Amino acid sequence: MNTKLFISIVLLSATTFFSCQTNTKNKQMTIDKTSVPAEKLDSLISVMTLDEKLSLIHASSSFTSGGVSRLGIPEIVMSDGPHGVRHEHGRGWYALEDADDKATYLPVGICLSSTWNKALGYDYGVVLGSEAKERGKNVILGPGVNIIRSPLNGRNFEYLSEDPFHAAAMAVGYVKGVQDQGTAACVKHFAANNQETDRHNIDAIVSKRALHEIYFPAFKAAVQDGGAWSIMGAYNKVNGQYTTHHEYLNNVVLKGEWGFDGVVISDWGSVKDTREALLFGTDIEMGTELLKSFSNPDYNDFYLAKHAKKMIEDGTIDESVIDEKVKRVLTLMYRSTALGNHSPGKRNVPEHQQLALKVAQEGLVLLKNDGLLPLDKKAIKTLAVIGHNATRLFAERGGSSQVKPLYEITPLEGIQKLVGDQVEIIFAEGYEPYYDESLFRGYASEVASQSRDNKKSTDLAKTANAKLLQEAIEVARSADAVIFVGGWIHGHDGMPWGEGTYDAEARDKLNLKLLFGQEELIQEINKVNKKTAVVLMGGSNVEMKNWLPETPAYLHAWYPGMEGGTAIAQVLFGDINPSGKLPVTFANSHEDYPSHAVGEFPGNKTVQYTEDIYVGYRYFDSKNIEVVFPFGFGLSYTNFDFSGLKLTQKDKKVFVECTLTNTGNRAGAEVAQVYVHQKVASVDRPVKELKGFEKVTLNPGESTTISIALDESAFSFYHPEKLVWILEPGLFEISVGSASNNLPLKGTVELTQ
Ligand code: GLC
Repeated sequence: MNTKLFISIVLLSATTFFSCQTNTKNKQMTIDKTSVPAEKLDSLISVMTLDEKLSLIHASSSFTSGGVSRLGIPEIVMSDGPHGVRHEHGRGWYALEDADDKATYLPVGICLSSTWNKALGYDYGVVLGSEAKERGKNVILGPGVNIIRSPLNGRNFEYLSEDPFHAAAMAVGYVKGVQDQGTAACVKHFAANNQETDRHNIDAIVSKRALHEIYFPAFKAAVQDGGAWSIMGAYNKVNGQYTTHHEYLNNVVLKGEWGFDGVVISDWGSVKDTREALLFGTDIEMGTELLKSFSNPDYNDFYLAKHAKKMIEDGTIDESVIDEKVKRVLTLMYRSTALGNHSPGKRNVPEHQQLALKVAQEGLVLLKNDGLLPLDKKAIKTLAVIGHNATRLFAERGGSSQVKPLYEITPLEGIQKLVGDQVEIIFAEGYEPYYDESLFRGYASEVASQSRDNKKSTDLAKTANAKLLQEAIEVARSADAVIFVGGWIHGHDGMPWGEGTYDAEARDKLNLKLLFGQEELIQEINKVNKKTAVVLMGGSNVEMKNWLPETPAYLHAWYPGMEGGTAIAQVLFGDINPSGKLPVTFANSHEDYPSHAVGEFPGNKTVQYTEDIYVGYRYFDSKNIEVVFPFGFGLSYTNFDFSGLKLTQKDKKVFVECTLTNTGNRAGAEVAQVYVHQKVASVDRPVKELKGFEKVTLNPGESTTISIALDESAFSFYHPEKLVWILEPGLFEISVGSASNNLPLKGTVELTQ
């Protein structure tokens, strides 16, 4: 058969392939996503020119990767972010004015993970996937699943946990929910992207054991259990090589051991080398430092564009390397909405807003309550609501994860909506954020000039705050009860320079000190009013030792999304019984945390993960270090009792059963947590590791049987020298309870093989 004829036949079948997909736009055609027609993809690739192949593996605009119009292959359209579909950028690098891009602003990742509700993770993903589809996006750039190694990381709000098992469990549902809508999830940032300081170049020196036991599991679960269609490389290096094109991370582990057949998408500008990107796993290069201009970008400047073409044409790299990437890209197109064959998405609909509310209701964590809560609106004539964060909007402030919400209910609005018709509410700002050079780690020079120009000086701001403090104290003194709303300010986009520390992308915090005089303000309020509830917003904790002892109640609210104010009010007044549990340890000072105790945060050019696997409670519990609130802790307005532990072994699994009873006088939800400890091991192992959890809701007096199966992975460790997973026979202690420090049920099993 002559070539011309061959190409036309293949082309015909190729265009048939894509045209049959694209012209079913309006049909409810659901294709079998598991059986990607590999042979068709191969025939399609065989008729592509090198330029056409290269156009598929790098950006064609700020948030699209290239297509091949000759063959009916569309671009892939991407969008941030992990908790809502970001502002519309079109093909440019800045948000478009007046675009129709308002979206559901879900509670941030760490709030979702604080629910410990795996099913809710799926529902969360459904909302995100549906809204992305409605906005014409094929890939949503989330979830962020990096382990929380230090409380100072500016992006902790986007992530899920200090524990790999918990992060993995919450990521899987999310990924499935997104992808069942036809939208590709893009799990990020692979891997060990655990700080923002010098994120584009920092080299994380991490043992293979810590990678496999701590930093990989959420990605592995997202791929193997969640079926993730794409993964995002990170900016940083690991053990000397950039993660986006890392031979061990991408080729050996992700695509080798884990069998990942999806697409590795770079972070924006994280590709640093053409040869490495070609050989070590980058499949699509987005955003790049090579762009000479954002206003007039030449996408042929990309590493995986003209620079890659040169290496193919001079024979340095074989074209089959490109073909393999193109096949992954076409596979993602086939699996996702990229080819237009999907049901319509929905955006800003009540059921999405209701889901946002439900996640907030279950993600708020009640950490202290001496009986003040729930507040009785009938017993309160005048309520003081104090604090800048009671009226602050957070949706657009996190950085790339920003969302332009249809609305955002602030705590003050939520309280007014709930009780404003029966209670007189008096608001006092109490403090206002200001620029303070000491708050910026090494950024002082960068921002000082800007802040001096357009922001009042620190002294002036502090004077203003002294006045706000006095006003607030008077309001508190005369009220029947006080709700203080403070914490971090989540500043980034749109934040005028000078509002102090961020708690957002591209910045790490300097410490956990409450900012802008909040600590003194809480102390003064407690002196004049003994009925004070503190609500803190933020992706992490703050120092508590100087105000918590005198504070009757403390609710941590993270950034709880567009219905966050509603949920906060419902919990404070008892309409909702809180059930959130900490996904991270709350210690009093950042210096207490292992990454700081070993002096390795944020490092300098390199950051040594000297603490190795001892992250979070693994460290605090193994070293018996006192913390303020432990991993897995959270209060309820009712009480629960664990009893009747039963451990049985069958088919290489250990079945953990117990009875959970609601012994209080109102319905509520509890999270049964299962921790495992190998009593005698050939290597050092933590005194406990979370290996199972279930959240159940019970009515007063109701009991239920909790049954959690532990497979071999629950008992294994990654051998530091042999570099394989090992399950050693011997005795294992299994503990069950409501928090890492409250495990009333304990038993032992002996594993023989
Ligand atoms: C950012 C973030 C990444 C985001 C991407 C696109 O730098 O690191 O999470 O998805 O760029 O905005």
